[in-house]
Amino acid sequence: MFETGNVPMIGNFVRESLDLHLFFARIMKEHAIFMQAGFLPKDVTYAQQAERFKCQYDEILKEAIMLSDCTASMAVLESRELVTDKTLRAEQKTQDLTGIPIDRSLTIEELKLKPDLGTIPVGVEMHICALNQKTRDLTTSFAEFKAHVLEQVTQCCITTNLFPSQFEHVYEEAVFYLKLLERLQKNQFVDNRVDLFEQKVFWDEIMREHAEFVRHLLDPSEKERCRKARDLAQLFDQLEQKLKGEGLAAASFERLTQENIRATLAIAEFKATGTESILACQVKSLLSPLLTDHTLREANYYLRVLQTWKSGYYGKGC
Ligand SMILES: [Fe+2]
Ligand SMILES: [Fe+2]
Repeated sequence: MFETGNVPMIGNFVRESLDLHLFFARIMKEHAIFMQAGFLPKDVTYAQQAERFKCQYDEILKEAIMLSDCTASMAVLESRELVTDKTLRAEQKTQDLTGIPIDRSLTIEELKLKPDLGTIPVGVEMHICALNQKTRDLTTSFAEFKAHVLEQVTQCCITTNLFPSQFEHVYEEAVFYLKLLERLQKNQFVDNRVDLFEQKVFWDEIMREHAEFVRHLLDPSEKERCRKARDLAQLFDQLEQKLKGEGLAAASFERLTQENIRATLAIAEFKATGTESILACQVKSLLSPLLTDHTLREANYYLRVLQTWKSGYYGKGC
């Protein structure tokens, strides 16, 4: 089934596509779960639509997992951006609390994935191309659904248990997934095209918003956790301002990247501790353990991007 000495371009396309789906298809599936859990009984039609998106992303994830054994990147498998040591427990608890079925077998399969052996199955690139196209269509529909619900919420036609800015946030994540997918389909490999600057602009904002959401979803009596969340939001706000001010100047870019890493390690630690505390029923809040584990994986994704970036790339032309 396997052949050695594949053209590296095909290997990159296959590996980067699968790495992307393993992370983002799960993220999208969970957005559908959070939305489904947030609708009120009168909006059952919306809840059903969210349920369908969840099932469709389960299928994408299943396909990506099936194709990923011995194909996914070691760095991605080790980054804990796909699953953490808390994901299975978070899924079980969130299913128990919401009544929404969550397919844990996918998580179990993902935990068993073995890294790339340097060979790509013959003909798999056609399969990957079709998977990318299917995911692009689905994610376009899901982004439209998120935008539609946001409009309904902001026009006060419906109310949900999510903040309007949470809908904006999950919409932006879908748009980012689409942007990366489109580049892959045009053979513009993500590692070469999506520069670190663009990733930082996107993820610094996402990290700040996570801290703000957590702060607002904590019970007001959780003063210490609220304070930590506020401090983290301020930290990422400062990083966003610095990035905008300093741009891509080579001298400051490396230093700012180190600051990004320290800040992201800090918020990842906050989210990891918070998830364990929520699982142990030690936090008063409106947070589900799957939501905090989800944001932890997004921090781990950003950390991997920051840490694996080849130093010196930005020296070119800066
Ligand atoms: Fe997300
Ligand atoms: Fe997020």
